[in-house]
Amino acid sequence: MGASERGYTWHRSGDGDAVLLTGATGFVGMEVLARFLERTDRDLYVLVRGADDVEAARRVESALSTLFGDERSYLRRVRAVRGDITREGLGLRDRRRDELAERVAEIVHVAASVEFDLGLERAREVNVEGTRRVLEFAELCQRRAGLRRLSYVSTAYVAGDHSGCFAEEDLEVGQRFRNAYERSKFEAEQLVAGRRERLPITVLRPSIIVGESDTGWTASFNVLYWPLRAFARGTYLALPARREAPVDVVPVDFVADAIFLLSQLQDAEGMTYHLSASPATSSVGEVVELARSRFARPAPRLIAPWAYRRVLHPMLVHSSRDARRRRALERSRLYFPYFAVNVTYDNRRCREILAPAGIHPKPLRDYFDRLVEFALLAQWGRRQVSRAEVARGSSRRLGRDAQGLERVGPVGMHLDTDDQAVAKRELVRH
Ligand SMILES: NC(=O)c1ccc[n+]([C@@H]2O[C@H](COP(=O)([O-])OP(=O)(O)OC[C@H]3O[C@@H](n4cnc5c(N)ncnc54)[C@H](OP(=O)(O)O)[C@@H]3O)[C@@H](O)[C@H]2O)c1
Repeated sequence: MGASERGYTWHRSGDGDAVLLTGATGFVGMEVLARFLERTDRDLYVLVRGADDVEAARRVESALSTLFGDERSYLRRVRAVRGDITREGLGLRDRRRDELAERVAEIVHVAASVEFDLGLERAREVNVEGTRRVLEFAELCQRRAGLRRLSYVSTAYVAGDHSGCFAEEDLEVGQRFRNAYERSKFEAEQLVAGRRERLPITVLRPSIIVGESDTGWTASFNVLYWPLRAFARGTYLALPARREAPVDVVPVDFVADAIFLLSQLQDAEGMTYHLSASPATSSVGEVVELARSRFARPAPRLIAPWAYRRVLHPMLVHSSRDARRRRALERSRLYFPYFAVNVTYDNRRCREILAPAGIHPKPLRDYFDRLVEFALLAQWGRRQVSRAEVARGSSRRLGRDAQGLERVGPVGMHLDTDDQAVAKRELVRH
């Protein structure tokens, strides 16, 4: 039986119930790592690639340093496990794997290859076969000391090119896929769904994840950032997009808060949640307007995607003498399909369960300028700026935000003042 408070029933944690986290050197995994360290006193095993144990340990220290500004922070509770999800037994020796399975009570599987231009074979190797290995390890944990939860981070893009409402309980709806990433994540979810009877699984599907809403910090300059960067440089005279097309963007702090909380709640077992922005979903028109006003550039014309693809894009690439501009145009093509979608990721179940903790995504317009400020500071990913650095710089400014909500801890959630004391107590304890 779990502890129950404010409508939430939590796992009962005890001694020797460590968490195994994959993907902790990546954008989302790092933020999830921070939450487990700051809000629990549990030990964390972090599966990380490396040529040897020393390199694996060094990579984890580097993640801690990026997060907290000091690699010694929490080092006592974090153990680097050199491994690779694409390899048999996660690339661990039998004895090491068995020992780990005795200690691990929860797994949060975040690792994946998120490149949109990856070939299908490689995408499947990491995202499908990698997930299969994690499921196998979860079954081993189950047989040994018992497994409380496997939280699997999927993506709302498993919806592919589906048009209309995509519900949290939907998976196969006759969709096609825009790239190997989407397809491989869909196939991975099918695998995960096949183990639901045997394992205590929670599936989490974020939409487009951008930087922290408070500071703009991000370690990843994908989906939304590429077009913004090209826009900032004046690369786009025209965009293949529909003004009213939804752009579902969520800040990483919301995503990590939600993953952390849902991985701990008994009621979340067996469920799938859309970590999406609704009802605060943005639109192509709004993003163009925000970018136009931030970069003081004329808005590009929005034209029908088919016309752009067949006629305008080849012309623009051909006539562009600047190699950098040509590359930006080519690269943007990967992301353009996301600005002509017609899908809404219904998140009613997610909103309902997160509401008592006050976890909800802010509308993009509330933090858009912060995202851009950080992107400019980090030169769109060319310059490394640690999360600790920006948190220090903005901590005074962010003591209280515009809505009068106070931060709880260095990466705290936004909580209504009334909920603050209780939720803070709950999160720290569990
Ligand atoms: N970013 C988004 O907008 C977004 C949106 C929806 C869902 N998601 C999902 O969120 C998750 C994390 O995405 P992200 O943006 O944080 O990606 P990311 O920054 O590229 O991080 C990927 C992580 O996976 C690890 N990894 C990759 N291959 C591995 C392997 N063979 N063995 C062990 N670890 C491996 C990477 O380790 P290395 O450091 O060794 O490369 C890294 O830690 C993914 O499951 C993704 O599908 C992301």
